[in-house]
This record gives sequence, structure tokens and C-alpha cells, in this order.
Amino acid sequence: MRPRVFVTRKIPEKALLMLEERCDVRMWQKEDVPVPKDVLKEELAEAEGLFCLLTEKIDADLLDHAPHLRVISNMAVGYNNIDVSAATRKGIMVTNTPDVLTETTADLTFALLMATARRLLEASDYLRRGEWKTWSPMLLTGQDVHGATLGIIGMGRIGEAVAKRAKGFDMRVLYHNRNRKPEVEEKLGVTYADLPTLLKESDFVCILTPYTSETHHLIGKGELAIMKKTAVLINTSRGGVVDENALYEALTTGTILAAGLDVFEQEPVPLNHPLLSLPNVVALPHIGSASVQTRTRMAELAAQNLLQALAGELPENLVNTEIYKL
Ligand code: GLV
Repeated sequence: MRPRVFVTRKIPEKALLMLEERCDVRMWQKEDVPVPKDVLKEELAEAEGLFCLLTEKIDADLLDHAPHLRVISNMAVGYNNIDVSAATRKGIMVTNTPDVLTETTADLTFALLMATARRLLEASDYLRRGEWKTWSPMLLTGQDVHGATLGIIGMGRIGEAVAKRAKGFDMRVLYHNRNRKPEVEEKLGVTYADLPTLLKESDFVCILTPYTSETHHLIGKGELAIMKKTAVLINTSRGGVVDENALYEALTTGTILAAGLDVFEQEPVPLNHPLLSLPNVVALPHIGSASVQTRTRMAELAAQNLLQALAGELPENLVNTEIYKL
């Protein structure tokens, strides 16, 4: 019998065809509304495979209602939406989609950094409001990116790709990571720093670390307080790494200059969120990996991981490797 698979959103055609060739696929059909938990629960009563997105919270309670589930394939590199320990206890494989999104996410991180530093959104709005009367020496002046110091928190694959871009802008790059990475220091000419030193010395701080219990509110009041008054904070990781209340305070009291945020503690971020009222915040709707090419590749990789798991093979991107016994 073909295994039953549930897909939690419409996905690119080729990925869907890959699944349909070998599985009995059911798919949530609404493109802009996540699948409600009760529907997901119902589907998981039968499903052997789950293809999901970062919008689905896959917790222990849900897994208690998934007696046949063998694999959760997340179409994202981050998997903080999944209770991996609970899945592991039940012998359910969890997979993600690293590598294919590295360069695209680094592009967006750098784009956001530049947009925030040079106040692109403010400038564009100013023009559209008809306020552009003349060229003026200090009008809409921002911060130089070239030659500045960039601090990268989380030197994983995306961190490295951002560092490469920064080197093209003659930036000095500091990084902070759980483990020091001498090979990356040598390859990219970056320098390890403890967190306080990185925060003190950087003109731009980019958050690229996974979201875990250890990185929850890693950047809070105390950390913001030691940053430069001219510093710009960029977050393209997960909202929860930054304490948003502390960030709002820092941005309104001149503790730091500006922030570029692609991620929020609550997504979609509520329109009345205080951070959205600030001109020195560039806010994006979690589009780090959103290029046509990359989202297509991510969907195909997630489909491939799921099919490999259901075929009893070792999926290319298994997260909880401890459950796969050869
Ligand atoms: C997106 O945020 C991802 O984790 O892939």
C-alpha cells in the first residue's frame, strides 16, 4: 500500500509530483492560511509522512495523535517549530532543508543590512509623499557599510555566506559562535570575539544563530546597552533570539540606531506592534529564503527527504540522527 502523506500547504508542482508518484498525498489547499491544529490532528491519525512548514507547531500533544507517523519533513532549515525530542522518543524522523537556502538567505541578510544602514524605505516613502524639494547635504544620511565592523552571531553556513559578502565590502568581520572555528577564521579572515566584545565593537550586528532555549532573548536590555549608539541590529534568524520590548526601548532612547528585522517573536507580527511604528526599523515578513529558485529547491529537497525516510533509507538531511540505526 502507498503510504499516506499530509502536506500542510500548497507546494511547488514538481515537489508535489515527486510525492504523488509514490504516496497517497493529501494537501491543505489554502495558500495564505495555515492548517488549523484540529485538521492537522485528524490528518495525522492516518499519515505516515508529514510535509510541513515553519508555521506548523508540531508538539508532543500532536505527536500523541499520530500513531503511524514515521517522518516529519520541515521545509525550512530551522526546526524550532518541532518538538524534536518528542519525535525522537517516538522514533519519528525529523528532516530539514539546509544548504539550498544558504546563499539566498545571505543575500537577503545583506540587503536588509544595507536597506537599514542607508534608510532606503524611509527615503522611498519621503519621495512618494512628495517631500523631496531639493538635494540637501545631510538629507536622509545613513551609515557607511563599506569599511565598517560587522559582528556575526552564529557562524554557521549562512554566517559564512554573509561574512563572504562583507569581505567584498572591505568590512572587518567579528563572529561569535558556540564553538570557535579556526578553519573559517583562516578561510574568510574573520576574528572570533566573545559576545560582549562583539557587541561593543560592531557597527552592524547580524543574528544568524538557531533559536533554542539557549538563544532565547540572547539579545536583551543588557546586550543592547553595550552596543554602539550608531549600531544597526539585523535579525534574519528567529524573532525569539531578541527581546523585542528591550529592542523597542533601545531604538526609542537612542541606545542603538536602527534595526532590520525579517523575523518576529510572533508571526505574522501584529500591525499594532510598537516596533512597526518606528522609522528606524525596516521590517520584512520572514522572506530570507524567498527566491523562486530557492523555495522550489527547498520544496524538492523536503520531498526527497520525506521519500527517503518512507523508503527506509537514511534521509539526506536527518536532524535527529540518533534514531536511525544502521
Ligand atoms: C526559514 O526561516 C528557515 O528556517 O528555513
